[in-house]
Amino acid sequence: MQAITGTYNDKVVHQFAVATVFWGIVGMAVGVLCAAQLYWPALNFDIPWLTYSRLRPLHTNGMIFAFGGSVLFATSLYVVQRTCHVRLISDKLASFVFWGWQAAMLGAVITLPLGITQSKEYAELEWPLDLLIAIVWVAYGWLFFGTIVKRRVKHIYVANWFYGAYVIAVALLHIVNNLVMPAGLWKSYSVYSGAVDAMAQWWYGHNGVAFLLTVGYLAMMYYFVPKQAQRPIYSYRLSIVHFWALISIYMWAGPHHLHYTALPDWAQSVGMVFSVILLAPSWGGAMNGILTLSGVWHKLRTDPILKFLIVAISFYMIATFEGPLLSIKTVNSLSHYTDWTVGHVHAGTLGWVAMISIGSLYALYPRLLGLPGMYSTKLIDTHFWMHTIGVVFYIVSMWIAGITQGLMWRATNADGTLTYSFVESLVATYPYYLGRLLGGLLILSGMCLMGWHMWKTWKMASGVAEHPVMAPDVAEAQG
Ligand code: HEM
Ligand code: HEM
Repeated sequence: MQAITGTYNDKVVHQFAVATVFWGIVGMAVGVLCAAQLYWPALNFDIPWLTYSRLRPLHTNGMIFAFGGSVLFATSLYVVQRTCHVRLISDKLASFVFWGWQAAMLGAVITLPLGITQSKEYAELEWPLDLLIAIVWVAYGWLFFGTIVKRRVKHIYVANWFYGAYVIAVALLHIVNNLVMPAGLWKSYSVYSGAVDAMAQWWYGHNGVAFLLTVGYLAMMYYFVPKQAQRPIYSYRLSIVHFWALISIYMWAGPHHLHYTALPDWAQSVGMVFSVILLAPSWGGAMNGILTLSGVWHKLRTDPILKFLIVAISFYMIATFEGPLLSIKTVNSLSHYTDWTVGHVHAGTLGWVAMISIGSLYALYPRLLGLPGMYSTKLIDTHFWMHTIGVVFYIVSMWIAGITQGLMWRATNADGTLTYSFVESLVATYPYYLGRLLGGLLILSGMCLMGWHMWKTWKMASGVAEHPVMAPDVAEAQG
């Protein structure tokens, strides 16, 4: 056995893991309230900071940046240490990244309900918070890439390629789209205007989905699926092709958010073509994850963590089939402005993002504590079913509601007048809003169950275990 030097920094991983579940519960609770308000509008109680328009960005920011961001920090900082066989380069920097990020998220929780916003979707936070996020992100990049530079193996495992691309791309997107002229502490104006502003915004919006909500989670897939299945990744060569194809195509698809707008027509068509091509690397990568189970499919019967991971990839396939479809102009003329988009979004976020995150956390958490597993496998299974049924309720309701809306809005009589008034389409879709609410409640309850389950597991251990850094050859021998 080779000499072992030092331990991994698992404190920061644990902090981010706990923060993920905390923000998951908060963000989903706000999502459930939004869903309830769409059914019972009076639920804002005439209080300005409880109005739908203020809670909706709180939900999206809470889910994407607080929940989604925390789990990406937790897993990337865990994976980079294990695959590079070194401790993070600085404990102080790690601590700064954790507390800095939480401070920015707290800022969001305070400012968004107060109505302070840049009015750009997913980039609502005003410039002081944007600055804080930029500083924390640079520190995170330093920590992540610095650790890679210090690695004790020549090879950089593919999960780190995906994490690395997400770290660089998110920095670029955040800075370019948030260039503003401040007009006071909590007010600013974008440096862009008109169609250019819209293009910058949806270049950001789409690539936020691509690099934050997809590429970072594919990194999780490449680490946690093989680990949990105890099988090597199906094809390492495919993973490299997957990486380069995905990152080179994604950047050009943003204009599909701006079909039939003032954006030049050729730009809309470029967006559509690149979106359709995206199907190939998306499904190729997904197959690479799923086929890793070749020869051990039976494990799905007994391991609910694997079920979370594999069903997540299946939802990823659904969302990445649906996305290219929605990007085709003629389909988009039906789907845009309807709940079909909302259904697509949540197939991606609740089906793919949340499920791969939850599965990875269940795999990671006991390892952090030095335990053989979570407190109860049965509870993980219960969570799996609550979440899966909830997501199906959510997305099926939105698909039906969305297509109904699209068809009713475009129906015309022989004399050219509209067949239905807007209110009639609202009445027709009303029951499905209840379906979504029920699905959301089930998912939120599952998340609360996870929080309680982590607490029970924590109590079984005597704190975060000290894991010695493994020499590369020892790690290989132990599998
Ligand atoms: C309990 C689970 C959830 C519920 C009940 C829920 C509910 C909602 C509701 C009611 C909306 C507004 C839809 C509209 O304006 O018509 C929404 C939008 C959104 N949610 Fe969720 N959500 C949940 C989980 C998530 C998660 C986990 C994420 C991300 C990781 C997420 C990301 C988003 C995004 C990006 C939008 C904006 C969609 C768009 O602009 O088309 N949600 N959600
Ligand atoms: C091949 C992959 C994908 C393509 C080509 C794609 C394409 C699209 C299209 C065409 C829209 C509708 C735009 C509109 O009418 O306004 C859309 C909306 C959206 N998609 Fe996807 N999608 C893909 C995958 C995903 C995934 C995996 C997620 C989540 C993890 C996701 C999240 C979203 C969000 C949040 C929106 C709503 C944006 C907004 O209007 O606020 N997409 N996508």
